[in-house]
Amino acid sequence: MIYKKNKLTLDRFYISSIIKKYKTPIYCYSYQKIKENIQNLKNHFKKINPLICYAVKANSNLGILKEIRKNNLGADVVSLGELMKALKAGIQPKKIVFSGVGKITEEIEFAINKNILLINAESESEILEIEKIAKKKKKIVNIGIRLNPNTDAKTLRQISTGKKENKFGVDQKIFSHLVNIVKKSKNLNLKCLSVHIGSQILNNKPYVNMLKAVSKVIKKCNYNFEYIDLGGGMGIDYIHNNSKLNLKKYSQEIEKFLKVNNCKIIFEPGRSIIGNSGILITKVIYIKKGFKKDFVILDAAMNDLMRPALYGATHKIIPLKKINSKSKKVYEFVGPICESTDTFLTTKNYQKLHEKDYLVICDVGAYGMSLASNYNLRPKPLEILIKNSKILTLNKRQKISELM
Ligand code: LLP
Repeated sequence: MIYKKNKLTLDRFYISSIIKKYKTPIYCYSYQKIKENIQNLKNHFKKINPLICYAVKANSNLGILKEIRKNNLGADVVSLGELMKALKAGIQPKKIVFSGVGKITEEIEFAINKNILLINAESESEILEIEKIAKKKKKIVNIGIRLNPNTDAKTLRQISTGKKENKFGVDQKIFSHLVNIVKKSKNLNLKCLSVHIGSQILNNKPYVNMLKAVSKVIKKCNYNFEYIDLGGGMGIDYIHNNSKLNLKKYSQEIEKFLKVNNCKIIFEPGRSIIGNSGILITKVIYIKKGFKKDFVILDAAMNDLMRPALYGATHKIIPLKKINSKSKKVYEFVGPICESTDTFLTTKNYQKLHEKDYLVICDVGAYGMSLASNYNLRPKPLEILIKNSKILTLNKRQKISELM
């Protein structure tokens, strides 16, 4: 996104031309950015040549999934719905991995019928359930077991998944026990060790610790895994101060790991592919005086973008039209929902805004629309994609009548 003559543009489009056509709030994605992000991952991990399975939960729009498929990525899914949508987008079953702690029978059956690459199991009970279904179907099913490496991802508590107190995966001891169970099974083929320690990771140290823990476990169980699925979690720069994960270093650490462990690497990135490709365009409804600050009340709310309310996450908010006003304001940007957590950001020194001005909430491509809800019976926003100088409608705005 750049300002041209003080007007905000995305991939050469003036955002003002978008709001002439559509009503806000609008999720708008940049195809160019998605492509760039995918290429960036491919380049950094060239030596590893991983299978990149896009984490569908980050953004499950069908149009987006189709673009991702065209870039030859696979998918990481966590529900029947996500699996069906990944298939609908044309993603090959042999590039799909199924994660999650609570897969139900129907989901496992469907995954087995579709011959997906891997079901990554997270408990003994789940393994036994997969085995039971595989036996009934007279099939041999490829599975992975998710390790809980007890690694602190040094990210937000709410999105950490790799510590022993978290519900995800199994600890080293149970892992070895499960390997022995699967080895004995005629209907299960143990192909993978999977791990995912959390999301929005900006520091390389947790990944180094994770790889150490994985190496230790592999040695202990003395088993040749065809795949090591390292999950996702690569963090992006929401603050716009260049604080992002050092992918080069991460790649070097994995290269070292591969010298000792001969296997194929799988990644499950979500945010690092789609996060900074999306913006939420919103309009100022009212501006109202508050205590020591003014409230800028937007037509986007926590139901449209949940991350600030749910995790205290920060998303930059920038104006469509930059002005060089001398008066610098203290603003709190809020939505119209009847909750005090329906607030996006408080900023000092903001340019003076007016009612009916338009703003852009940045970097909302990941876990923006996918976490959106109909709370307060608000329809979900429209989604569009800018691709090759064209605006493509990805999803119509919900109609109020659909909510009745
Ligand atoms: N693989 C597994 C097993 C996961 O649980 C996740 C994310 C990913 C991959 C993708 O992680 P990513 O590369 O996107 O960091 N709603 C939160 C994030 C929750 C992430 C859940 N799991 C947020 O808005 O920050």
